[in-house]
Amino acid sequence: MSTLESILKETRSFPPSDDFRHKATVSGMEAYNALCEQANSQYLSFWEKLAREQISWKQPFTRVLDDSQAPFFKWFDDGVLNVSYNCLDRHLATQSDKTAIIFEADDGEVSRVSYAELHRRVCRFANGLKSLGVKKGDRVVVYMPMGVEAVVTMQACARIGAIHSVVFGGFSAGAVRDRVQDAGATVVVTSNEGMRGGKSVPLKATVDEALALEGAESVQKVVVHQRTSGQVAWDASRDIWWHELIASQPESCEPEWMNAEDPLFILYTSGSTGKPKGIQHSSAGYLLGAINSFRWVFDFKPDDVYWCTADVGWITGHSYVCYGPLGNGATQVIFEGVPTYPDASRFWRMIEQHKVSIFYTAPTAIRSLIKLGADLPKQFDLSSLRVLGTVGEPINPEAWIWYYETVGGGRCPIVDTWWQTETGSAMIAPLPGAVPTKPGSCTLPLPGIMADIVDESGAQVEPGRGGFLVIKKPFPSLVRTIWNDPERFKKTYFPEEFNGQYYLAGDSANRDENGYFWIMGRIDDVLNVSGHRLGTMEIESALVANPLVAEAAVVGKPHDVKGEAVVAFVVLKGARPVGEEAKKVAAELKNWVAHEIGKIAQPDDIRFGENLPKTRSGKIMRRLLRSIAKGEEITQDTSTLENPQILAQLQQPL
Ligand code: WT7
Repeated sequence: MSTLESILKETRSFPPSDDFRHKATVSGMEAYNALCEQANSQYLSFWEKLAREQISWKQPFTRVLDDSQAPFFKWFDDGVLNVSYNCLDRHLATQSDKTAIIFEADDGEVSRVSYAELHRRVCRFANGLKSLGVKKGDRVVVYMPMGVEAVVTMQACARIGAIHSVVFGGFSAGAVRDRVQDAGATVVVTSNEGMRGGKSVPLKATVDEALALEGAESVQKVVVHQRTSGQVAWDASRDIWWHELIASQPESCEPEWMNAEDPLFILYTSGSTGKPKGIQHSSAGYLLGAINSFRWVFDFKPDDVYWCTADVGWITGHSYVCYGPLGNGATQVIFEGVPTYPDASRFWRMIEQHKVSIFYTAPTAIRSLIKLGADLPKQFDLSSLRVLGTVGEPINPEAWIWYYETVGGGRCPIVDTWWQTETGSAMIAPLPGAVPTKPGSCTLPLPGIMADIVDESGAQVEPGRGGFLVIKKPFPSLVRTIWNDPERFKKTYFPEEFNGQYYLAGDSANRDENGYFWIMGRIDDVLNVSGHRLGTMEIESALVANPLVAEAAVVGKPHDVKGEAVVAFVVLKGARPVGEEAKKVAAELKNWVAHEIGKIAQPDDIRFGENLPKTRSGKIMRRLLRSIAKGEEITQDTSTLENPQILAQLQQPL
């Protein structure tokens, strides 16, 4: 309730300037409303028109939507295309010399890649993959640092019809193995090392460790890009250097012509169980979402210099680094490093240096940069900026205002974009030349996105009341299924409660009297740590896999930079540790989680008890744990609790 009250007190509203509105692609509310009206009255022809305009088809489609096997929807399904052709080849005639990527390395070195050059690199690597036997439908796991080669790898997969599954470089060997195994990948592409904040990240060593684990036997080849001079272990029967693989490969590669519905990629994301979900996206529908939303939400113009700070390991790096910008022929900055190295002005210096006009980042980064130097942006010339964006979690109004004033000079609309791995592209976000913004609200759905807020029965709730965020009609970039688990797909996203008709996003939200959406949080056991999704069950499974641990429960607590932080309540097999011993075990368990999943999942706080608070039927009372994690006094009724005395144990900080 407190979040609900605080956001509803936010009444400031920021319309675009007249100048911005005049120049915008979708200019003014009338234009936005007209698009929504077209979508409402002629849903299929609305999407059909966009799909014909925005995508270059090898063979045009004749059917727009096939819903005969709902919720397994098919879009444009007799159309034939290639996604990489759409991102590269089709720009060559008009802008082959245009810069596609301005790459800034961790150490500040800058290199530029034109569309023609990127096309050549993608073709050579695609030919290299083919020479390893990779063909249409095969799965390729990508475990790479941010850089040109990560994009080349994804585009090369798209070019030959292989399905990429990018695994974030911060994930551990266990997480790599799980994803390799579930996807049945035959090839892994990695780098010897990555560079972040002046330190090297041992990527190849982690792949070696992952592939030595049980379950990773499907992998036949590991391609290693040499990013640093660091030495790595080598298995000559399996490993091959990138530069050797491409050495004699031709600079052109005929695209594999794909069906609109052929899978483009799988990306694993956390859900309510311990097992991550392989979110499977289509070729044409996904591409349309990425291209069109990029154009609308950022009001993209051909001379923009765009920079999205997300890693390619997340969906944002897929849609708004790899596919959306290239599909539109944009010039973009790709950054290898971290915002705080060599110091907290790195982002602002880069915006000045590269004359960035559209900047898209995460609230957690904004909050940490405010902390480390709220005045630093003023030392740089940020006048090139015209649009600012955020994604991943709600942005608190204080951070919003700072971003707007100090970074944007009060001149740049902020597009707060709500979407998910599953939706593939932005769903609720202001079109910056039309929709007035309000700090903390992602504002209104994009035209064609039938978002709504409903109660348990599926009925629309009144303004100001919280409910489930749903999307009432299928749209092209929606997840097609969960890899290997269509039943889970149906149950999770199109539950019976809503007659299997609505896409259930998993967020709660409410709407104000102007119809603006305010996201409140997740309705499932999913945490949002620094804009990254982590399942509490996943962290719990990792903890109980430790030989010392008998039982564990994980909850989130509010954190002023990360948004949410992980708190774990743990019962050991032996006696409950106290004092120094408790600190020692806690440190060990934190390292364990970092090793099992990755540093992002590491608990900030661990508490030990002889048991967990449970009802008589044995259910863990997570509400109580959440209160304890926040340090709140327990006011809830604990009379149904089997073992009230353990609350005092769990309240004790280490
Ligand atoms: C979850 C999806 C979309 C790319 C990054 C995260 C939360 C995302 C916002 C926003 C409030 C947001 C939601 C959503 N979320 N964007 N603008 N305002 N919450 O992708 O890992 O699939 O996570 O992130 O809870 O369900 P993801």
